[in-house]
Parts: sequence; C-alpha cells; structure tokens
Amino acid sequence: MPISDFERYKLTYGPSPIEHLPRLTKHLGGAQIWAKREDVNSGLAFGGNKTRKLEYLIPDALAQGADTLVSIGGYQSNHTRQVAAVAAKLGMKAVLVQENWVDWPDALNDRVGNIQLSRIMGADVRLDSAGFDIGIRDSWKKAIADVEAAGGKPYPIPAGASEHKLGGLGFANWAYEVQEQERELGVFFDTIIVCTVTGSTHAGMIAGFAGQDKPRRVIGIDASATIEKTRDQVARIARNTAELIGLGRDLRDDEITVLEGWAGDYYGIPVASTLDAIHLVGSLEGMITDTVYEGKSMAGLIDLVREREIPATSNVLFAHLGGQLSLSAYSALFR
Ligand SMILES: Cc1ncc(COP(=O)(O)O)c(C=O)c1O
Repeated sequence: MPISDFERYKLTYGPSPIEHLPRLTKHLGGAQIWAKREDVNSGLAFGGNKTRKLEYLIPDALAQGADTLVSIGGYQSNHTRQVAAVAAKLGMKAVLVQENWVDWPDALNDRVGNIQLSRIMGADVRLDSAGFDIGIRDSWKKAIADVEAAGGKPYPIPAGASEHKLGGLGFANWAYEVQEQERELGVFFDTIIVCTVTGSTHAGMIAGFAGQDKPRRVIGIDASATIEKTRDQVARIARNTAELIGLGRDLRDDEITVLEGWAGDYYGIPVASTLDAIHLVGSLEGMITDTVYEGKSMAGLIDLVREREIPATSNVLFAHLGGQLSLSAYSALFR
C-alpha cells in the first residue's frame, strides 16, 4: 500500500528544514550544496534519523500492547538514545544493550553524550563487551527474554531499526517530503548524499525515490567499514521496503549505490578526511558533524564535488542525520 496509508505516530516537529550551504558551495567551487537537517527534526532528546524511523514502528508497538522497547547499539549509539526518548515520551520502559562497538581509548566513552542522556531518561542501560556487528545479537535476544520473564511485553527494535519490517518506511516517506519541499523551493536535487551503516535510512530513500517520475542519484557513503554486509543489508531492505509501499517493480542494481573510501579501517574511528570535513563544515557553515557518521559522509561529499564526480551543474542534498552527541567521547581530537 502507498506510504501515505501507513500509520505514523508524530515524534518529529514536521518536515525537517532544508537549507543552502553557500560558503561550503563557494569553497568547493562546484555543485550547489544543500542540507536537510534531521539533526534538528525533533524535541525528543535532540532527535535524528531514528526518531523518523520510529514514527512508523510505534503504532505497531502500541497495537501489540507492548510496554517496553528493547534495542541495541554501541556505547555511543544515537539510535538507543532516541529509543530511550521515545519510550519516556510514551510512558514506556526502555531496555538498551550497549555493546563495545568502538575500540576507542576515551575513559568517558561509556558515560558522556548519548549514553548519559539515555540514563537521564530512565532507560535500563546494559553494557556488553561485544564488538561491532550490524546483525542480530544474542545479547539483544536475551534482553527481550528478560522482559518477558519479568512479566513485561517487549517490543524488539534491532540495531538502527533496520532489520525490522517497517524500518525503511521513515525514509521512504522522507523522499516524498523532499519532493514537496522541492516544489516550494523551486529546486531539484539530482543527487542525495547519505551516510550508511545499518542500512534502512539509505534503503528507505531508494525505495521512496524509485516511485517518483524524475530519476536522481541516491549515493550512500559507507561508515561501517564492513562494506559487503552494509551493501547487502541496504539492497535487501530497499527491496523489502519497495514491495511494502507497492512500488510495483523490482529495484535495479544500479539504483543501489553504496560507496566506500571514507570509513577508514574501523567503524567509529575517524580518519584524516573525517576530521578535515568536520572542521571545514563547522568553520564555514556553523554546522556540526560527528566523527562516526556525518563527518565521514561529508568527507565523501567534499571529494565527489571537488573531483566533479558530482558535476558543477548539480544540486546536491546532504542528509544530515544527527549524531553530534557522541562528540564529547572524542574530546582528545579537538584540543
Ligand atoms: C548520526 C547517524 N548517521 C547515520 C547513521 C546511519 O544510518 P543507518 O544505520 O540507517 O544506515 C546513523 C545510525 O546508524 C546515525 O546515528
């Protein structure tokens, strides 16, 4: 059925703002660069891309009579912080498995930023020593079983809300929101740049844009450093979401593009291009990006615009998905 027929529980302010980045555009000397700001999309603990995805999962959780959201991520997961905020807002509980996804030597990594906010919002935060993996984990299954054993009704939300049948809907709808905003702005964004890790943000966009008349490029920039897993996951979720929203045709392989080259060797560890991008965009536009996600996708955008891989005649839309809260766990890099 069409995306507009799916139930949506409002957690965001409404359409997220789109703004032109004139000083970055001038500095790079090529395509016009714009940003759509999911980092300011909600008043729920600073929002972000997961808040938008959760708008489509919450009606399902409420219909099932769930009382506890159970999810998983790294210590500095933006996703679990947004799950904690939504649970608090709805009067539900949150159980969060926080794994040691990043081998990062900051003594406050499991105390500041996202995890601090989740604790403030009353979530049951469970630290786990397991390393990075975007797949389904036993620790998460155990947390679900614990809630059941205690007489609760869990609603399982996998990492990034990605391996969930409704996980792609939030950003399929984003594609239609962009189309509406384009009419108001009188601009067509021929290229979208989005950071990709667990996959359903990028996948949802692909499915949503595929149903529109005018084709455009939706370029995912990998920040997982496990490119094959992320590519497979994006392709699978994009196809499932396309079917769910009644696209009526198969997605072609050339509609699913995840580029590598800016993730460095490890998820969560910035490289020189990440830090350069963070400083450049911060100093030119007052726009803050982070070391784990958006600094990496912004580094990709910068190179693609500079090298004219994205032509100078293009209008590029950078999907700013949030993520700034983890910056305090990287304070040593900005002394
Ligand atoms: C700030 C930020 N950007 C990008 C992403 C990547 O989104 P996805 O996991 O849907 O690929 C995430 C979450 O993983 C995120 O928190």
